[in-house]
Amino acid sequence: MNQVSSPVENDEMTANEAEQQRDTILIAEDDPNMRELVATVLEGVDAEVIQTTDAQQALDLLESRPISVVLTDLRMPRIDGLELLDFARRRDPHTQVVLITGYGTVESAVDALKAGAFDYIRKPFDNTELLHTVERALEHQRLARENQELRQQGIQSEDAGLIGRSSAMDEVERLVRAAAAYDCGVLITGESGSGKELVAQRIHQISPRSEAPFVAMNCAAVPENIIESELFGYVRGAFTGADRNKPGLLEKAEGGTLFLDEINNSSLALQAKLLRILQDGTYYRIGDTEPRTLDARVLAASNRDLPELIEAGEFRHDLYYRLRVVEIALPPLRERRDDIPLLASYFLHKHARRLDRQVTGIETRVLGALMRHDWPGNVRELENVIQRMIIFGRGEKLDADALPPEFSGAPEGRTRALDYIHPQSLEELEAWFIDKTLREQEWDRGMSAEILGIDKSTLWRKMKRYGITDK
Ligand SMILES: Nc1ncnc2c1ncn2[C@@H]1O[C@H](COP(=O)(O)OP(=O)(O)OP(=O)(O)O)[C@@H](O)[C@H]1O
Ligand SMILES: [Mg+2]
Repeated sequence: MNQVSSPVENDEMTANEAEQQRDTILIAEDDPNMRELVATVLEGVDAEVIQTTDAQQALDLLESRPISVVLTDLRMPRIDGLELLDFARRRDPHTQVVLITGYGTVESAVDALKAGAFDYIRKPFDNTELLHTVERALEHQRLARENQELRQQGIQSEDAGLIGRSSAMDEVERLVRAAAAYDCGVLITGESGSGKELVAQRIHQISPRSEAPFVAMNCAAVPENIIESELFGYVRGAFTGADRNKPGLLEKAEGGTLFLDEINNSSLALQAKLLRILQDGTYYRIGDTEPRTLDARVLAASNRDLPELIEAGEFRHDLYYRLRVVEIALPPLRERRDDIPLLASYFLHKHARRLDRQVTGIETRVLGALMRHDWPGNVRELENVIQRMIIFGRGEKLDADALPPEFSGAPEGRTRALDYIHPQSLEELEAWFIDKTLREQEWDRGMSAEILGIDKSTLWRKMKRYGITDK
């Protein structure tokens, strides 16, 4: 073989790489009917599914390739699910194991959770529940892997891009790529602190204009009398005080990107000027006779609904249509809560390093509180809270003592947060397990106490202690 690889070989490499990145789910189950059923339920999941009836083969597979999620029967001939769990977790701590258990094996299920299983499913199971659990397990291992990668890369905020793996952020990322490839006007909308400027920078960075400047202009902050000199610049002697030539923002952005921030707060006068430039494509420095061509991609950001402003007569609809060839709407953080752990971990490492503090992680309880918060200030607020906790915290992990007061209220909606978080401490585990059992028994305390093997008053005390309610 010679050293020059043919295009065909290149194609094969990419296909292999894609294959490597795809998640793999391993179903280890000795009952063929049950195995088939599980495989059918998982058909809709974006992952490769491998099935085996044989425990030894399951071990071989775990040994030979990365497996994201293992679904295994708790009881299998020759090896039981717990041993398989132990083997899988030793082999790769990111692999998540979901156990399938028969009735009456609650204790083993608890043992399994203590041993690091992601979750268990009781037979006969509900197909949606199974699907949901596997999807959560996949998501969990992706987050864990990403977290580790971020740590290993030592994260550089400048090139980390947009953090987030929620489907909403995937869509944003897709639009960002599309917008970067075409030199069209892009309107970026979203609440304050949701990442509009970051999106604008990212579009610039991955566009063919990335070598030229990215110039931001805050439209709210330009006094009316200097709009023209700001945008167009001037030549020496154009007016009193113009003692030298000065390029305007349009010129500074030449070849690159002009970012019109807070466009919703621009005056009607500024809107008229901007529209004119975008239509004509040319402008003059004040006092100059040479026309200059506008050569900058224009991005704009708004934190208000522009159609509403148009309705109220505060925004020009013709400018709106020019700017909004593509619209990228950033969802508020409370609508993509599953991004919170990743963002929190990203900011933790970014700022711990900057502040030179040894903080290695976040207590699960704290993460739960962060996931329940509504984040009116969005990602910026989250970043500030993390910084504050690094400064005020004392331990190696961000602990509950450092949480700002507005976070330390009663743990309302705990199940929502716990749905995302794999419990870590034994207490968390107990709380989570009790909650799960109660939900499965539709809050029948008698039945739940029986399954849990404790009496009703103990159950009641524990519910109170962990703040578990059915509301
Ligand atoms: N997806 C993300 N990944 C990483 N950092 C983010 C993300 N979204 C926002 N940030 C960070 O959060 C902070 C706020 O983001 P940004 O300034 O882009 O928000 P904005 O929408 O422009 O806010 P405003 O409307 O208040 O101007 C910045 O420090 C930014 O780097
Ligand atoms: Mg901004």
